[in-house]
This record gives sequence, structure tokens and C-alpha cells, in this order.
Amino acid sequence: MRTKTIAGNWKMFKNFQQTEDLINGLKKALDFTDKSVKVIVCPPFTSLALAGSLLKETPVALGAQNMYFEDEGAFTGEISPGMLKSVGCEYVILGHSERRLYFHETNESVNTKAKKALASGLIPIVCVGETLEEREKNITDLIVSTQVRGCLKEISAADVERIIIAYEPVWAIGTGKTATPQQAEEVHLLIRKLVGQLYSWATAEKVVIQYGGSVKPENAKELLSQPNIDGALVGGACLKADSFASIIKSATA
Ligand code: PGA
Repeated sequence: MRTKTIAGNWKMFKNFQQTEDLINGLKKALDFTDKSVKVIVCPPFTSLALAGSLLKETPVALGAQNMYFEDEGAFTGEISPGMLKSVGCEYVILGHSERRLYFHETNESVNTKAKKALASGLIPIVCVGETLEEREKNITDLIVSTQVRGCLKEISAADVERIIIAYEPVWAIGTGKTATPQQAEEVHLLIRKLVGQLYSWATAEKVVIQYGGSVKPENAKELLSQPNIDGALVGGACLKADSFASIIKSATA
């Protein structure tokens, strides 16, 4: 049985004070007695330590939005897995489409980072998804399969069972256009079948596959009720405590 997992990707929003306000708002809005949904917040690097300390004693987990694949060294501007762990991170988003687009991340670099994250005890949330142009050319399946294969290369079945894959159609991110539950389910099933082929069906059944792209309180329930949609990676709607809490509520059984 896969646990529904809702992660909030804050992107480059919220300074120190705003972080305190949002986390305190979440602490008021969330029902911590409900253990059926796993909740993860992914603030920017500068807010991780603060968010981590405010979330201590709660079941909400902390994640980062990126990391570098070396332990330490002369890599100005980069952050290591050990640094993330030292402020309480358990998860790290890798290969978000914005990082692929603006920072030239590739399936190869995401794969290197994913292996390093796993070896360091962090759980990667590996993002895949097609652009509008690719969907219109009917090559969604090819693009997503290539991304999944590339990002999972040389990762063991035991590790794949721990990771999260986030299917985020690029055309749905921050645009207000959501994939229909049927469109999303189709790609989620494709991803699960591919993991089944690459590993085994038993492994595929354990992998949490989140949907991301304009998830909001109004559409969360229907998306999350699809058999292969195991959670959501939420951008814009996680920046307000009430809307994030409402999405989390939609995930409860
Ligand atoms: P959005 O972003 O919910 O604002 O579309 C999702 C994401 O980029 O992870």
C-alpha cells in the first residue's frame, strides 16, 4: 500500500520572516493526528534550517529543491547532500523542469545526483514531464520513458522502491492548466509499467508517483483519486497555509 505523499515546492519564494509565518500557519492548519498522508515541505536553501527547527516534533518532513553531487570542495554556490542532512532534510527534489530549462540539467546529471542522494540517505523526488510541443507531437510517452530510464540508470531495485517520481507536464506548471485526471493517470500508468519492466512489478507497485502542475484545492481530490496517482508536488498553491492544508485534506482516505 503506497502512502499518499504531498510535497510543497516553494521554489524561489519566502524570505526568513515569511518562512516563519507560513510554517506557523501550516502548524495551525494541519491535522497532525491524521497519519494517512505524508507531508513534505521544500523551502529554499536559506529557509531550510528555520523551517526544520519549527517543524521539529511534527510529522512534516523537510526537503530541498536541488543539491550538488559532491560531498564538499571548491564548488562555489553549491550545496552538498551532507549539508542538507545536517539541517534535517530527508528529501531532495531533482530535475525539476525549471532546473532543466534554466540551469541545463539533463537526465544524466539528475541520475548522478539521484545516486548521490540515495547513497547519502536522502530520498530523491525525481521530476519528469513533457513540454507542450512534445505533447502536441504525440511523443509524450517517448519523452517520459527516456527521462525515467535515464534518471534511474544503475539505481538498484531496493533504492528505486524508496524514491518518488513526480510526473509534471511542463505545460501545466504555473500555467493554471492542469492535466485532466485521465491524462495524468495515463502517464502515471506508463511510468509504473516501465518501472515494472526495468525492475519487477513488485518494485513498481511500491514506487510513489506524484502528479505536479497547477494542483489546487479545487482539482486535488479528483487527481488524487486515480489509481496510479499517489500524491502531488504542489507549487503555487503551497505558498498559502490554507490552500496547502486543503490539498493535503483531499488526499486523506
Ligand atoms: P505549480 O508548480 O503547482 O505552481 O504548477 C508545480 C511544480 O512546479 O512543482
